[in-house]
Formats: sequence, C-alpha cells, structure tokens
Amino acid sequence: MVKICCIGAGYVGGPTMAVIAFKCPSIEVVVVDISVSRIAAWNSDQLPIFEPGLDDVVKQCRGNNLFFSTNIEQHVSEADIIFVSVNTPTKTRGLGAGKAADLTYWESAARMIADVSKSDKIVVEKSTVPVKTAEAIEKILTHNSRGVKYQILSNPEFLAEGTAIQDLFKPDRVLIGGRETPEGRRAVQALKDVYAHWVPEDRIITTNLWSAELSKLAANAFLAQRISSVNAISALCEATGANVSEVAYAVGKDSRVGPKFLNASVGFGGSCFQKDILNLVYICECNGLPEVADYWRQVIKINDYQKNRFVNRVVSSMFNTVSGKKIAVLGFAFKKDTGDTRETPAIDVCKGLLGDNAKISIYDPQVTEDQIRRDLAMNKFDWDHPVHLQPMSPTAVKQVSVTWDAYEATKGAHGVCILTEWDEFKELDYQRIYDNMQKPAFVFDGRNVVDPEELRAIGFIVYSIGKPLDSWLKDMPAVA
Ligand code: NAI
Repeated sequence: MVKICCIGAGYVGGPTMAVIAFKCPSIEVVVVDISVSRIAAWNSDQLPIFEPGLDDVVKQCRGNNLFFSTNIEQHVSEADIIFVSVNTPTKTRGLGAGKAADLTYWESAARMIADVSKSDKIVVEKSTVPVKTAEAIEKILTHNSRGVKYQILSNPEFLAEGTAIQDLFKPDRVLIGGRETPEGRRAVQALKDVYAHWVPEDRIITTNLWSAELSKLAANAFLAQRISSVNAISALCEATGANVSEVAYAVGKDSRVGPKFLNASVGFGGSCFQKDILNLVYICECNGLPEVADYWRQVIKINDYQKNRFVNRVVSSMFNTVSGKKIAVLGFAFKKDTGDTRETPAIDVCKGLLGDNAKISIYDPQVTEDQIRRDLAMNKFDWDHPVHLQPMSPTAVKQVSVTWDAYEATKGAHGVCILTEWDEFKELDYQRIYDNMQKPAFVFDGRNVVDPEELRAIGFIVYSIGKPLDSWLKDMPAVA
C-alpha cells in the first residue's frame, strides 16, 4: 500500500488529502500538523474549515484510509510520498519585507523530513512557493540525507475556496513539475499514478520544476488582474454613467476573453492573490525586471484603490462623516461559501469606517465573532502564520458588535454595506430592513448582489459598484 503523508492540515492540505483518500482506497493518507487544535477539529464532527461537500468526503474515509495526526515524525518517516502544504506568508521584516515569501515553515518542515527519514522519499511542494524553492529544499534534504534519496516535485494546488471539493473532483488541470532525470521522471510518474485514479490523463500536465512553480504564481496573477481590470473599469463607469455589468457582459462574450472572473466588486481577497503577486513582483525585481514588477504591482494598487474608493463613497454619501453612526456590515468572509477571512476586503473597509469613528455591526453566516475581532486587531500579514502563533484574541473594540442575524445587524443603522456575495443577502426582506433603519437609509453594495432599482423603490439610497449613480451620490463625489 502506498503511504502518503501531508504536512499542513489547512485549507489546502485537508481537502486535497481527503479527496485523494476518497478517490484512492488503496492509498493510506495521513495529514499531520503542529496545531493540536486543528488536528482535533479534523477528527471531530466540527471540521476546522467550512467547504461545501467536505464533511461527506471526510466522513466516508476518516478512520479507513484517511487519518489526521499530530504525530508528525512517525508518519513522515513511514510515508513514500510527502506533500508539504504549510504556510508561506509574506515576510514582514528583513530582506524582501512586504513582498518576498517567508519560507520559515517550509524550511523547518524540510529539515524535519531530513531528520526522521530512513527510506527514500518523494517530497511534493503543495504550498505556493517562489520559483526555485525546490532547489533550496533539495539542498537542505541532500545535505542532511544520511544516504536517503529524495526527489522533489512541484504540484501546486489550483483549488478555489468555496468550490474546493468540486475543483478537486474535476480539476481543469493537475500540474506536476519534476527534474528531467530518470529518477525525476519516475517520481513524476508515481505522483501521476495517484491522480490518474480519477483525473483524465490529458488533464495531467508535466513540466520542469521551475515552470510548475512559476505557473502557479502566474495563474493567480492573471486571475487577480482580471478582477483589477474590471474594477478599474467600474470606476470609469460610475464617472460616465455606464453600467459595469453590461460592459463586463459585452467584453466577456468575446471568446478570447471569456465571461468568468469579470464581476466588479469592492476588491479581491483571500490568502493567495496578494501574497502571490507580491512574491512575483519580488522575483521580478531580483531578476532585474523592474518594468515587469511594476506591471504586476499595479494589480494590487488597483485593489487597494477600490477598497479605499468604497469607504470614501460611504463616508462622502453620509454627509462626509460616519462618526457615531451605526453601519451594518453584511458579510465578512472574502467570498461566499467559505468562512475564510484572510485578506478579506471587509477588514480594510471596516478599518476605514472605524477610522472615521463609525459604530459597526457585523453579520456573516460563517465567520465567528472571535475571528472577526482577531482580524480587525491583527497587523498586516500576521494572519498567514499558524493559528497558535497568531496574537491572542484581542480585547473587544467597543465600536464593533457582531450579530448572528442580518436583521439584528441592520436595526437602527444609518447605512448597510454588503461586502460578501452570500446568496442569502439576495433574499433578505429589504422592506423590513428599511423600516427599522435611520433615514435617509443607505445601502452600499460592494458585490452587486441587490437590484438597485428595487431598493430605490423602497426608499433606500443605493450605491452599487460600477452602476449608474443615484442622484444623491452624484452630488457627493468620492475620490480615492
Ligand atoms: P493554512 O494556514 O490553512 O494551513 C497551513 C497549515 O500548516 C497550518 O495548519 C499550520 O499549522 C501548518 N504548519 C505550518 N508549519 C508546519 C510544520 N512545520 N509542520 C506541520 N504543520 C505545519 O494554509 P493554506 O490555505 O492551506 O495554504 C497552504 C499553502 O497552499 C500556502 O502556500 C498557500 O499559498 C497555498 N495555496 C492555498 C490555497 C487556498 O485557497 N487557501 C490555494 C492554493 C494554494
């Protein structure tokens, strides 16, 4: 029986390994982590992450050929294939601070593999890493090998949170990079054999190591760039009276462009896009390509601009001050169908409103109060370290309250900001919400989930990103 061990039981390690175990009953899969609470949660009925379909997959395999453990060294030493799916945060100090990837967790995982391994191993990079990380890992392993042979593969993960199980069941592609040597090719084949249990062969792409590493960074940069492109156009739509949904539809109809990832919004979030682009920027700078670095940096600048622009719209519309006013925030996760809040635009919007002294009442169907309070108190990039190394829960910020109901959050509010596109926000009884709010009552839709005309008919003053402006807002232009 082939044995797989995955180091890192997070958003990537957990679901990917659960699906491998589900699709390959002949393979034993153990997911290990230094976080005792995370492993305990994976072994309980309350999994540590919310992902549609994940519970079923885990329940069917757990205890059969899928295990979660903190006994890292034992399972690493017994495995044939070791996936490494640990955090790769942005460095906050030293060389490359604010851009380069911090490989502390990766390096410690590699050194631990070298310490405990007694038989040959295939080590698979699942985390998103800078180009040429495999070379560094290879050096750590071979210099500490004591006769054990290692093959390093790059197998970046392309799943999207919220649709992870679907993405893993039917991936657009699986990418495997390896050394172009006979041993390297054999290792690539061994990993290909795992995926071939359910992924059609023509969807398994094999490349050299560096192409695989760079493809992941490039893919995320392209995806984020589409969002920044449509968001840049949304600002122009508001200035000219065009409707960004109509423009995006017309543009996306061109088969060379395609319709996906063209929704204007308050900005992209999630653990990867910003981090991976900063990483790409840093690599470009290190390779003497400042123009290329500037090009990709602009994708992040537009994202920051969009978040600032949204806050400025809220404040300027409400007579240039939200001081002491209750603002309801509907949605805190970085997108629907996940409880993940890493780099969510809601953090920057809430901080912006708090900076103007607003009182904020937040509702999200999947994010806990503790998480929201941590996020609002955390420094930039601290979120991407293992949970037990993050700052403890902060003392409550008194201008922030968290509710478990959208109606409670909006009661007595002056304005409502919709920051995540949860389906339930489309179905809310907006008449009831309006009746219980201060007047004039404002809705700022950062995800274009409501029909602005319907809400205007109720009496709301409505701002929808990139849509023709309410006459009220036209008189109060916001600059970023
Ligand atoms: P995560 O933070 O949810 O999980 C990482 C886990 O690794 C944590 O539970 C942490 O305790 C554990 N860990 C850290 N160092 C360890 C060590 N030395 N030994 C054992 N466990 C250790 O992170 P997530 O989201 O799963 O991301 C992991 C990697 O995958 C990152 O490089 C990320 O960029 C990449 N990725 C993430 C995607 C996503 O949608 N979240 C998608 C594709 C790639």
